[in-house]
Amino acid sequence: MQKVIKNNWVIGNWKSNPSSLTQAKSLANELKCIDFDRINAQIMVMPTNLHLTSVLDTMQDTSILVGCQDVSFTSDTIGAYTGDCSAEQMNAIGVKWTLVGHSERRTYHQESNEQLIVKIENALKNNMGVVLCIGETLTEYEKRQTLNVLHHQLAILKEIKPLKNNLDKLIIAYEPVWAIGTGKVPQVSEVEDVHQNIHKYLLSINEHLAKTPILYGGSVNADNVESFAKSDWIDGVLVGGASLIADKFSSLAKTFFATKK
Ligand code: PGA
Repeated sequence: MQKVIKNNWVIGNWKSNPSSLTQAKSLANELKCIDFDRINAQIMVMPTNLHLTSVLDTMQDTSILVGCQDVSFTSDTIGAYTGDCSAEQMNAIGVKWTLVGHSERRTYHQESNEQLIVKIENALKNNMGVVLCIGETLTEYEKRQTLNVLHHQLAILKEIKPLKNNLDKLIIAYEPVWAIGTGKVPQVSEVEDVHQNIHKYLLSINEHLAKTPILYGGSVNADNVESFAKSDWIDGVLVGGASLIADKFSSLAKTFFATKK
C-alpha cells in the first residue's frame, strides 16, 4: 500500500498526575526549557483539567501544544451540568485538542460509542481537534479479534456529521489496552499491520482521511520509541507514564523525531 506523508506527533497524556499544581508547573517549565523548536516537532501535553490554564500559560510562545483528556458529552456549551467541562469552555481558554475514548474512560466511565459520537461532535463544533483512542483488550487480542474491535470503534466516524468539513482535526491513537501501563508492547510489525488496516478503513469512510495521523500508544518509553519511529506506518506516539518526567519525555520525543527525519 502506498504511504502518504503525514504530520508526526508525540503526545504526553498526564492522566491524573501530578498531585499538585506546583509539580505540574515545574514539569511544564522543564519541558518549556527544552529546545523542541529546532526539530519543528508537533509535541502536545495533556494535563488534568485542574492544571490546564497554568500549563497553557507556561507553554505560551512555545511550539508545545496543550490539549485536554476529555470533553463533556452532556452539552457542548455552558449550563447546568454539574462536574462537566464543555468543549466551548475548553476552546475559550485556548485548548485546541482533546482525547476522546481513552480506554480508561471507556472502562471506568462506561463510555459508549453513542456518547463518543456526541463528544467528537461537541469538540468539532467548537473548533477543537480530536485524538480518538481505540484498542483491543488482551482477551480480544488473544482471540485474534483486534481488527473487528477496531472497525467497530472506528465505525462511529461514519455518524459524525461535522467530520467532512474538519478532516484535519482528527488523529487516531491505536492503544492496545493490554499494553497501557504494563510494560508490554506488541511487535512493531503487528502495529504496522494494524495501522495499515486502520488507514484502509478510514479511506473506506472518506477518501480525504488519507492524511489522518495514526499514532501508537501503550508503554512507549525512551528505549523502545526508536523501533516505533522507524516504521513508515507509525505517525507518532501517545505516551502516559514516560511523559511525566521531563528528561525522559524530551529524550523520547527527540529520538522519535530524529528517527523520522
Ligand atoms: P502508558 O499510557 O504510556 O503509561 O502505557 C499510554 C496511554 O494510556 O495513553
